[in-house]
Amino acid sequence: MRINNKIISQIMNRFDFIIRYLYCRFSFIKKIMFWSLYSSDFKDLDQVFEKMKSIFENNNVIIKDKKVLELGPGNSRLMGYNFIVHGAKKVILLDKYPRVQNTNRQRKFQEEEFEFIARKYNYTKADLSTDFLFSDKISFLSGDLCELDMSNVYIIFSNSVLEHVKDIGNAIECMSKVLVKGGYMYHNIDLRDHFNFNYPFLFYKYEQDIWNKYLTKEGTSYTNRFRYDDYMHLFKKHSFEVVSEDIIRRDLDPVKLSSQFADKQKGDLEVCKLCILLRKI
Ligand SMILES: C[S@@+](CC[C@H](N)C(=O)[O-])C[C@H]1O[C@@H](n2cnc3c(N)ncnc32)[C@H](O)[C@@H]1O
Repeated sequence: MRINNKIISQIMNRFDFIIRYLYCRFSFIKKIMFWSLYSSDFKDLDQVFEKMKSIFENNNVIIKDKKVLELGPGNSRLMGYNFIVHGAKKVILLDKYPRVQNTNRQRKFQEEEFEFIARKYNYTKADLSTDFLFSDKISFLSGDLCELDMSNVYIIFSNSVLEHVKDIGNAIECMSKVLVKGGYMYHNIDLRDHFNFNYPFLFYKYEQDIWNKYLTKEGTSYTNRFRYDDYMHLFKKHSFEVVSEDIIRRDLDPVKLSSQFADKQKGDLEVCKLCILLRKI
């Protein structure tokens, strides 16, 4: 989260261990207090789509007639709609901990998202529902990619997801298996500590066993703390080549490093965001 008040920010940082610990243990806190934080922002996601589309165009990645998989769509179908409008044959939205619940908030969210996409492409709502969007071209699945029987995917996309995947090595191996040879993956990875975005490297101070045992929890707040070099190693190991990448770094302010991070290159530790297009070779 982003905490702009300096005093609150300092207090939060001072007590981050206990706050993280309570947050992991009592997941109802998240449900009650952080709906807006954990709800996707479809206007932001639309910009993510537009940026990705221009990177695809520059690198001859074709959407038309292709099968697309989005990992971790959260509670949004916006990427699916955009891919279908651009001619994708099929879009699978797959989330391991889906937040698409049948609540009034979610219904309102979906309606607004649908109206947004109708306005964007000058469709009437009737066009969209009867024409292509609610046909069998988009499916929303709940589960783990490695446990599903999927193949012949041409594009895998994710936004702010890979940093939350627990067994990321296994997940990237599974992505490689479901993709066709020559297929593409496009991921936006947010490598910052999500506790307080103004202090993106605060979590470097924790040893891995403490982190996993007390301070992060799969399905609630899990962050794997993989760094740029770790991702690069995994992508290479599972037969991916980098087609394009966009990296945002921030200075590593004086920050305590646990043994896991002590030997890493400063340049790898400073990466905050990575936007990467990869091709399966
Ligand atoms: C920070 S949210 C991002 C949601 C959405 N992509 C967005 O940008 O608004 C991370 C999402 O990844 C999902 N997720 C975590 N681990 C996953 C996994 N192994 N496979 C698929 N989705 C996963 C979570 O359930 C959550 O919906």
